Amino acid sequence: MANATELLQADAAGYAAASSIWSAGGLVAFPTETVYGLGADARNDRAVARIFEAKGRPRFNPLIVHVASVEAARRYVDWSDEAEILASAFWPGPLTLVLPLRADSGLSPLVTAELPTLAIRVPAHPVAQGLLTEFGGPVAAPSANPSGRISPTTAAHVLAGLSGRIEAVIEGGACAVGVESTIVGLADQASVLRPGGVPIEALEAALGRALTKHTAGDPLVAPGQMQSHYAPGAPVRLNAQERRAGELLLGFGTVDADLNLSPSGDLVEAAANLFGHLHALDSRGSPIAVSPIPEIGLGRAINDRLRRAAAPRDDRLPG
Ligand code: TXA
Ligand code: MG
Repeated sequence: MANATELLQADAAGYAAASSIWSAGGLVAFPTETVYGLGADARNDRAVARIFEAKGRPRFNPLIVHVASVEAARRYVDWSDEAEILASAFWPGPLTLVLPLRADSGLSPLVTAELPTLAIRVPAHPVAQGLLTEFGGPVAAPSANPSGRISPTTAAHVLAGLSGRIEAVIEGGACAVGVESTIVGLADQASVLRPGGVPIEALEAALGRALTKHTAGDPLVAPGQMQSHYAPGAPVRLNAQERRAGELLLGFGTVDADLNLSPSGDLVEAAANLFGHLHALDSRGSPIAVSPIPEIGLGRAINDRLRRAAAPRDDRLPG
């Protein structure tokens, strides 16, 4: 088990230190353009098991593998024409593809929770790219938060949730996209398993056709998409037209709010601010009301996370 968690700088010495921690089976959190990931060597059973332990994550919820390039990704999954179209259009970037796992992948079966498919992505963040290139192997990484809590978009968020449970975190500033990757299932009928940093409209334009969209509760949805997730300690009320007594208002557009996701109503800015603002309001301990957000572009990913934040909590359901 880790003791003190080290804060590493995003330079050659930091990359070398992170890479040797991974080689030794340790855990290092690192920035991606979406959220911070909690990384381990995806080929090492013990290291991958420690991810689940550090997060308190249920073992049936599979992890995303991160690699530096499309060529590296093709070593782990059966590639397809649609994978090629989406990878050329959106990798490196905030897109995860779910494809059939290759029999010779060499990955720990814990990564996929023994599913026949693998979720894989090539992140664009220069620090993630630098680290993955230095390490030269596949890195399994869920978001670097305790299971069911708000995802981290700064190194400080990671430390607030996981300090003492992981070896290190790389300081990489605030994440530019701010919501997790869009997950597209391509193992059978192409479908969106989780809305995220690439708008569905952009995916459909690249593919030249509509994608099936699954909703929470649908058995085909990404296994980790539980109803209660991204949960602040305080209750969350959605589509709030006004602030009620005792509430903090998380605004969008021209409203008088405690914190505003985007005063100008820009969904890209709102996504980048979402988790940071939720962390900040949550630390004040009052119920949170949230302005309506349009269900288009990145608004779909924002509303998906907000609906989960507002869902009834059930401590027996690990989110
Ligand atoms: O942006 C992101 O995707 C971030 C950064 C760190 O890359 N990662 C992330 O990981 O959001 P996590 O573990 O918080 O969410 C991964 C989601 C879970 O809902 C999981 O169930 C789903 O991906 N998933 C993983 N493998 C899958 C598979 N083979 N089939 C379907 N869903 C899968
Ligand atoms: Mg997560």
